[in-house]
Amino acid sequence: MSEFHIPQRPRRNRRTESIRSLVRENSLNVTDLIMPLFVIEGKNQKHEVKSMPGIFKMSKDLIIEECHKIYDLGIPAIVLFPSLSEKIKDRFATESYNSNGLYLQTIKAIKKAVPNLTVITDVAMDPYNSDGHDGIVSDSGEILNDETLPILGKMSIAQAEMGADIIAPSDMMDGRIGFIREALDENDFANVGIMAYSAKYCSSFYGPFRDALDSAPKSGDKKTYQMDPANSNEALREVAMDIAEGADIVMVKPGLPYLDVVGNVKEMSEVPVAVYNVSGEYAMLKAASLNGWLDYEQVFMETLLSFKRAGADMILSYHSIEAAELLKKF
Ligand code: PBG
Repeated sequence: MSEFHIPQRPRRNRRTESIRSLVRENSLNVTDLIMPLFVIEGKNQKHEVKSMPGIFKMSKDLIIEECHKIYDLGIPAIVLFPSLSEKIKDRFATESYNSNGLYLQTIKAIKKAVPNLTVITDVAMDPYNSDGHDGIVSDSGEILNDETLPILGKMSIAQAEMGADIIAPSDMMDGRIGFIREALDENDFANVGIMAYSAKYCSSFYGPFRDALDSAPKSGDKKTYQMDPANSNEALREVAMDIAEGADIVMVKPGLPYLDVVGNVKEMSEVPVAVYNVSGEYAMLKAASLNGWLDYEQVFMETLLSFKRAGADMILSYHSIEAAELLKKF
């Protein structure tokens, strides 16, 4: 007998896997996942993103095959981004609403081939903009807010026309959620939802994504529209505004370095909360595991679970396919 009495022994609930499973508070499900995809021009094209080993930019035909696979794994949704050649880009992102263009045609083809896969489309100027910014850049280098909104509106309507289920504005211009909601409603797209990148921070973790899309800003940075990493109250204000303007889902981005923000947003948000486990977060885990320094499967599953624990309702992650494959095994 020990000399002292221990009133509670938490280890009793950790004694066996069976007991641990009974007392487990959170779990990752395949239906929590959203897979990001990058589409490129051409046929039968597949190019690995250098800073994201295991992630490929694919031509439309291969994207369709990938979408079948994603749907068959039980992943409910994809989010699609275009990777375009420099010569197609201009100051006003006109390619973004070209109905014969790569991006819009790919949305249409996916909805035709895999109609029950939810297609989330990206609204922002940067993949189409010769300046690499998410808004129009004035001659003096200012990012113009109100002048950008009509372009985002046109882009949203064009995507809805192709069958997009949810429009996801990732640009951080003020007032764009209300503007897009009105544009969609006026064009008979009341059923198309909006996933707002509400608390999108000005983060260096987007580096590999900008490599993939060749979308890094040509001058300056995104600090006048993306949020300061030092701020947390501001995220709640951004979320409240986007909900008031009509957001159906709000997002926090990046994920891992902003788990506190995910938790705070979940507490106050009336709508579901998404988190974006961004390209740089994927690259960190992949690079360390390719060096043999981390157990890849364990660390990405632990990472995805951390988003659930923080309160996220859904997770955009480059690990989604690998996670779904792992979840299937159990
Ligand atoms: C831009 C956009 C970015 C990402 C998604 N949309 C990067 C940026 O703001 O430059 C990043 C996603 C990732 O890093 O995985 N509209």
